[in-house]
Amino acid sequence: MDLDKNNDEFRNDILKGLSNPDQKFTPSKYLYDTQGSQLFELITEQPEYYPTNTELRILEQKARPLINSISKDIVLIELGSGSSKKTRYLFDEILKRQPKLFYFPIDISITFLGNIVNDLESRNKNLVVRGIPDEYINGIKECNQILFENNISFDTFSRLIVFFGSSIGNFEPEQARDFLKHLRLNMHDKDFLLVGFDLIKQVDIIERAYNDKAGYTSRFNLNLLNRINKELGGNFELDKYFHHAFYNKQENRIEMHIKSKLDQKISISGSEQTFYIKTDETIHTENSYKYDKTKIEKLASRSGFTIERTFSDKNQWFDLVLLRPC
Ligand code: AVI
Repeated sequence: MDLDKNNDEFRNDILKGLSNPDQKFTPSKYLYDTQGSQLFELITEQPEYYPTNTELRILEQKARPLINSISKDIVLIELGSGSSKKTRYLFDEILKRQPKLFYFPIDISITFLGNIVNDLESRNKNLVVRGIPDEYINGIKECNQILFENNISFDTFSRLIVFFGSSIGNFEPEQARDFLKHLRLNMHDKDFLLVGFDLIKQVDIIERAYNDKAGYTSRFNLNLLNRINKELGGNFELDKYFHHAFYNKQENRIEMHIKSKLDQKISISGSEQTFYIKTDETIHTENSYKYDKTKIEKLASRSGFTIERTFSDKNQWFDLVLLRPC
């Protein structure tokens, strides 16, 4: 990996976002450095952050009908696997039907992958785990290559690609459509895609999830300023900013911002530009879109999929949607 190139891209994106006259912004992918990824894991353990537990409960209760919706043997591919905690519910169910399971976790974070591959294989001798440290689409292409090299013919199994955690919600709607379209292009007709969607619900429940009492979401958000200071020589003083997350009803999304407590100057070393941020002005750091059934259906049909089945929790807070190429 070319670190300098990554650093240049980071610098250019941050300078571009801070120069935007209407609203300062930063792409949300920069929230996930090592520290940010650890803080995100902690967020998922907070009682207010319902998406993780709700999705886990659906998997716990619905793994069997879910897997039985697929008639062929399964090869499992997970996008953004993290700790693979949720996927473990699927392993047992799949291994009741077939003697061996190929599992390909794809994650850009090598740290996560290294740990889980050994852990999973030592626990279950019928699981063959091949961690792929790459971007999602490239990762899927690599899986195809590995399956081909192992003489596993595509006629005999379905690939089940899982994308948990409502991460689809962090894409802008048109990006989500393009992403699914791209996935579709790399899938066979008999493959399946399972996507977790966080659903529109009472505003206070959603807002609480992004403003946890223990303050992990705030630390996760402000960590971006630390990262800019460390990697780009920024001058952010963290105590002069605060976390601000609210639900935008028109757009059906949580917006996460960093708000300035006072009028101040922002500089990034090596750049001649100085940026000014006023009291209460914000830097927009992330969107998290919430869906309803109609939006999910539209997204599916516009990206070349049809809904095979939907699995929900009893409160209808979260949907796990099994999609089939059409
Ligand atoms: C990763 N993603 C699904 C999280 C979400 O809920 O949008 C990221 C997050 N941001 C703040 N809290 C959690």
